Amino acid sequence: MAGERFIIEGGHRLQGSVQVSGSKNAAVAAMAASLLVPDECSLENVPAIGDVRFMAQVLESLGVEVEKPSSSTLGLRAARITAFSPPTEQVVNLRASFMVMGPLLARFGQASCSPPGGDVIGQRPIDVHLAGFAAMGADIHRQGDKFVAEAKRLRGARLFMDYPSVLGTQNLMMAATLAKGTTVIVNAAAEPEIASLAEMLNKMGARIQGAGSHTLEIKGVDALHGTAHRIIPDRIEAGTFAIAAAITNGDVRIGGLEPRHLHSLVAKLREVGVQIDEAEDVLHVCGADQLKAVTIQAVPYPGLATDLQAPMAALLTQAQGVSYVHERVFDNRLLYVSELRKMGAEVLTTGTTTAIIIGPCSLSGASVHALDVRAGAALVLAGLVASGRTEVSDIYHLNRGYQSLDGKLRSLGADIESV
Ligand code: EPU
Repeated sequence: MAGERFIIEGGHRLQGSVQVSGSKNAAVAAMAASLLVPDECSLENVPAIGDVRFMAQVLESLGVEVEKPSSSTLGLRAARITAFSPPTEQVVNLRASFMVMGPLLARFGQASCSPPGGDVIGQRPIDVHLAGFAAMGADIHRQGDKFVAEAKRLRGARLFMDYPSVLGTQNLMMAATLAKGTTVIVNAAAEPEIASLAEMLNKMGARIQGAGSHTLEIKGVDALHGTAHRIIPDRIEAGTFAIAAAITNGDVRIGGLEPRHLHSLVAKLREVGVQIDEAEDVLHVCGADQLKAVTIQAVPYPGLATDLQAPMAALLTQAQGVSYVHERVFDNRLLYVSELRKMGAEVLTTGTTTAIIIGPCSLSGASVHALDVRAGAALVLAGLVASGRTEVSDIYHLNRGYQSLDGKLRSLGADIESV
């Protein structure tokens, strides 16, 4: 709901333990993969968030039967596909909806979809996806507002991606599983969500090698079958809690995560002065009385995630000295800066991809807008350390990507409520 807001009374040190939910971006990709088979795919550790609900609606519009046996499991059965094109009004809800294209095209030889929606964080073209389908033999054209792709059967090809796009890699990888012959994707994205999808597809009978590296080889097969798959922990949610602990000078154990997915963040937080101990699936994060300014660069994995760039900027308002924040993935992901300024942050921007933060800033509560899911998270983090009351509006963005962010923060001692 657009009118929902978080009210935060800042100044509470976070303490205790919190459990990370399943990954938003891995979940929506796994859901799309269910289109490749008529049998059921069952997913565990699915986060209860808006984007999963939106993706379920997109799949249902195509005829997929979606069952929810519990709050964290989903059963998806694409036995009777009744449409090859999701309605535009659903597609614009989330960018991941474009991932129906690869599986539909591979299994049925046809698919169409309007340009997808998603957060306003810069230009978000889909040329990489379309060029890949075309190289695998699909005919691509526009029909009204939609892209249409058609191919009797896709054929394996050597694909060079202009940019290691995450959704692009996932879309093409799914398409290639049922193509005739071998596909090699060069300059593929290497995010953990891609390795997770490849693992699911291989359990379904696909033959994918190299997932998690920048070169994928996919030997096409004639048919795949259903499977059960567990969604990996959400590294961005985990990172957000690590930064929440740091910004409040707190002492928090974040459990149920995969530490190796967070190494770039851990290294940067240590450079800032935060103490972090790693155990098998836990990070223990302790703040420090004085934080040091640093330079961060948001780049593709294994570098620091662009999805943690805004939360890190919130933290750096509390660091002593001048910090530089460079966004290298999206061309307009600093829009949250104007909201942080309303809270007293001293931040300059040069162009749309570099912010300079002069800290430490004494933040005070204000009324601010969550402009997208991660920008919203940054404002919540700033609100935790600001003096007085912060009101974050448009939190439906946050609910799209974080399962019970307010509830989890409250369990750590934050004074935050949703109204
Ligand atoms: N790009 C192209 N051509 C394309 C596709 C992308 O040039 O055909 C460029 C974009 O313009 C952008 C860059 O590639 O500059 C990265 O875009 P990418 O395609 O990798 O992003 P995405 O796949 O649309 C996913 C996540 C995002 C995350 C990015 C980067 C999902 C559903 N979304 O988006 O997650 O920021 O990868 O890691 O997996 C979020 O969770 O808040 C979020 C935005």
